[in-house]
Amino acid sequence: MPLDEGLALYAAAVEAAGLGLPLLEIGSYCGRSTLLLADAARAAGTVAVTVDHHRGSEEQQPGQEYADPELADPEQPGRMDTLPFLRRTLAAAGLEEHVVAVVGASPVVAAAFGGNGGGRFGLVFVDGGHTDAHAGADYASWAPALAVGGLLVIHDVFPDPADGGQAPYRVWSRALASGAFVEAGRTRSLRVLRRVGAGH
Ligand SMILES: C[S@@+](CC[C@H](N)C(=O)[O-])C[C@H]1O[C@@H](n2cnc3c(N)ncnc32)[C@H](O)[C@@H]1O
Repeated sequence: MPLDEGLALYAAAVEAAGLGLPLLEIGSYCGRSTLLLADAARAAGTVAVTVDHHRGSEEQQPGQEYADPELADPEQPGRMDTLPFLRRTLAAAGLEEHVVAVVGASPVVAAAFGGNGGGRFGLVFVDGGHTDAHAGADYASWAPALAVGGLLVIHDVFPDPADGGQAPYRVWSRALASGAFVEAGRTRSLRVLRRVGAGH
């Protein structure tokens, strides 16, 4: 994530943390964006919840565009395991106690912990799988758990297919079309929407 997008995510997290609710991230990876949510949560006396199965997205698998051999599971060659890297990142920053790291597939975690509405989160940051199936499921699973007044932040929104995959853009469009969200910011591919009513 480029610096300006990171700063925009941090600003959204600081604002949303003012609601006093936990902040949610889908897609922890090695913890870089988690640090931004965690610091905002710490300052507001809440926590950041970050969800990832830690086996990597399609484009991060061996041989794919964003593969990183250093993230291989030492006991299962050919599989990734980013969980140890997340833990080290949080520990090095002194932010472990401000983060609840949940290991699992996003829709499964949502069904168990956070789905079905209830307004449990002040911010939902969608940066997990970038296929239509995954990004769409993340939105459908977690948007109901975003409080009115809370912020939905979506990464890698590219209106032009020449710039990148379209799934996050379709999620962003779907959220706006629902009437439950209004646009609250855009910094490069990072888009911020505010929940103004029920629905998704
Ligand atoms: C683009 S990376 C996240 C980057 C991170 N937010 C950052 O800025 O540092 C996407 C992450 O989503 C995770 N992921 C993909 N599909 C998922 C799913 N269905 N459930 C849980 N995690 C998933 C992958 O394991 C990967 O770590």
